[in-house]
Amino acid sequence: MAELGFEVLGLDIDPAKIEALTRGELPFHEPGLPELLLKHVQSGRLRFTTSYEEVGAWADVHFIGVGTPQKPGETAADLRFVDAAVTSLAEHITQDALIVGKSTVPVGTAARLRDLLAETRATAGLDGTVELAWNPEFLREGYAVKDTLTPDRLVVGVESAHAEGLLRQVYAKSLTEGTPWIATDFATAELVKVAANAFLATKISFINAFSEITETVGGDIGTLADAIGHDPRIGRRFLNAGAGFGGGCLPKDIRALQARVSELGLDRTMRFLAEMDDINLRRRDRVVDLAVQVLSHHRDGIARSAGDTASPVPSPATVEVLNGTKVALLGVTFKPHSDDVRDSPALDVANRLFTAGADVAVYDPQGNANAARRFPRLGYVDSLEKALVGADLIILLTEWDEFRQMDPEYVGRLVDQKLLIDGRNVLAPRPWQDAGFTHAALGHRFSPAQSATEGS
Ligand code: UGA
Repeated sequence: MAELGFEVLGLDIDPAKIEALTRGELPFHEPGLPELLLKHVQSGRLRFTTSYEEVGAWADVHFIGVGTPQKPGETAADLRFVDAAVTSLAEHITQDALIVGKSTVPVGTAARLRDLLAETRATAGLDGTVELAWNPEFLREGYAVKDTLTPDRLVVGVESAHAEGLLRQVYAKSLTEGTPWIATDFATAELVKVAANAFLATKISFINAFSEITETVGGDIGTLADAIGHDPRIGRRFLNAGAGFGGGCLPKDIRALQARVSELGLDRTMRFLAEMDDINLRRRDRVVDLAVQVLSHHRDGIARSAGDTASPVPSPATVEVLNGTKVALLGVTFKPHSDDVRDSPALDVANRLFTAGADVAVYDPQGNANAARRFPRLGYVDSLEKALVGADLIILLTEWDEFRQMDPEYVGRLVDQKLLIDGRNVLAPRPWQDAGFTHAALGHRFSPAQSATEGS
């Protein structure tokens, strides 16, 4: 917003975060954002505070971007933070203003918050007219700056021409650049967001379901995705088969949507999303199973199955093969260009291998510190080389450029056993096979003889 020319005051209730931001330090990794933060802290257009009094007396438009995580032990969204933010603003705004919700919320939340806002202000007897609007956020981690400055669409749920007019002023630059503008009601705006994420999750699980077929009968999942992706009605994006989706959005959003429609009495409506969730989580089982197959085949020429990999307790076959095995685990964030490990498939797999007795050396260009806070007992190393030296098995689970660019010959000189699992389908098999590696990948049948000689 400061980059767009506005005067901005950022509020958080965590004083440590506000102090760091005031010094120009970001609490997370996001490419391009540190430079913008510094630029506008220095220009004076961006300031920070912990005081609701200060923002309430100052701003014309208040954006709420607090989290709506999954409730502990449930699938529904936890709305405590968004409720607290609206209530605090309602109690402190002393002039005409617009509150704009950006958080992802269950349908019906904005209408409830509109009433909460009105009641809170009536009870407190405060001056000024304060309205609510809902403006869902579609930015992707890793591309947050670009997605914010040049969004592919703007969706606003509004209840007055005044609210829409204010938001048109806020987004004037994007509007002059031709960004599609969708002004609608609260319910549609809320649903657009969850519908988009549910669709993306479904696309990923759709191709990953086909992975289960190609893993069984053979075939090339990447070529299949390319071929259907050429149909413009389908499109190639988000059809990358691999370890599946994670992060702070897709997994919890599809669960919260199911919980919300059940509350509405529509239990069957989003039941397919439970299937998408299952397909997604089975990808992690598959990585463990493939590790057991690759290692057992290397050891005694028979690719053994791990048996039941879905249970939190590793199967005896898994422990038997993995115990003491040195695994170089490349990537631990839920995707590249982020340090976020929330619901990360890679971190889940790392933990399962560790539980089965493997000696796991985790390396991620950005995610080690966050992963170590969550699973302190895993082994973390601060370079790719350190992870590779002496490894019995390499498993790539987050497709950072540093891993895509690895030189198979060089890697072959560092490891103890030339065994590789590509959990994201980003390493061309042939150069690795030429360097003597057994190359296995998600979405591909593991056929060691072919892997060593002909390519898969
Ligand atoms: C997602 C949406 O893409 C954003 O539009 C949305 O604003 C955001 O959630 C949100 O709700 O705030 P994000 O969580 O940053 O963004 O990540 P994505 O780029 O969507 O990737 C999600 C996961 O899917 C990652 O784990 C990624 O590795 C995986 N993925 C993605 C695949 O497994 N295959 C693909 O083809 C694409």
